[in-house]
Amino acid sequence: MDAPPVLLSEAEIAKRVKSLAEQIDQTYADAGSLVLIGVLKGSFIFLADLARNLTIPHRIEFIAVESYGAKESDVADPVRLLMDVRHAIDDEHVLLVEDIVDTGHTLAYLKRLFTAHDPASLRTCSLLHKPERTEQDVALDYLGFTIPDVWVVGYGLDYAERYRTLPYIGELPPEMR
Ligand code: IMP
Ligand code: MG
Repeated sequence: MDAPPVLLSEAEIAKRVKSLAEQIDQTYADAGSLVLIGVLKGSFIFLADLARNLTIPHRIEFIAVESYGAKESDVADPVRLLMDVRHAIDDEHVLLVEDIVDTGHTLAYLKRLFTAHDPASLRTCSLLHKPERTEQDVALDYLGFTIPDVWVVGYGLDYAERYRTLPYIGELPPEMR
């Protein structure tokens, strides 16, 4: 099987993740603790690398969400929570960690959801952002890379559960789908 062409190399990603971790370290230097909430499944590799680059104390939680397909896109909320955090995040400093912001619906939903838990603070971090696809504007506090409107795979991101463990981020051409 051919490999998808490289959009972001392993080295580029590693460098950017390190610099995001430095920014996060600075922001939360006086906070005492931080809860990273990774959105499954796509963020698992990014979260692992980001967390291992942090020097501030932190704990890790995961949540899982499901987006409805285009057919059901007229439902009130296009996103549904499949798995919640294990420990309450009330009064905690929370950083939501996403793989990619595409239409913005997932992150908008998650921000609303976690705001209702009264965290001490709530910020957002995404490795990738496709601004051309925005339907719902969500402010990102930390962003790795802005990318064009292409389907990307690797470094946790999939196409029908394939390509997640590619070490780099590749652009998936239609003939490889
Ligand atoms: P949203 O449209 O911003 O709600 O993004 C929903 C989810 O779609 C993201 O968290 C990803 O899991 C997935 N997604 C969007 N674009 C891509 C892509 O190019 N590759 C892999 N997954 C994607
Ligand atoms: Mg995701």
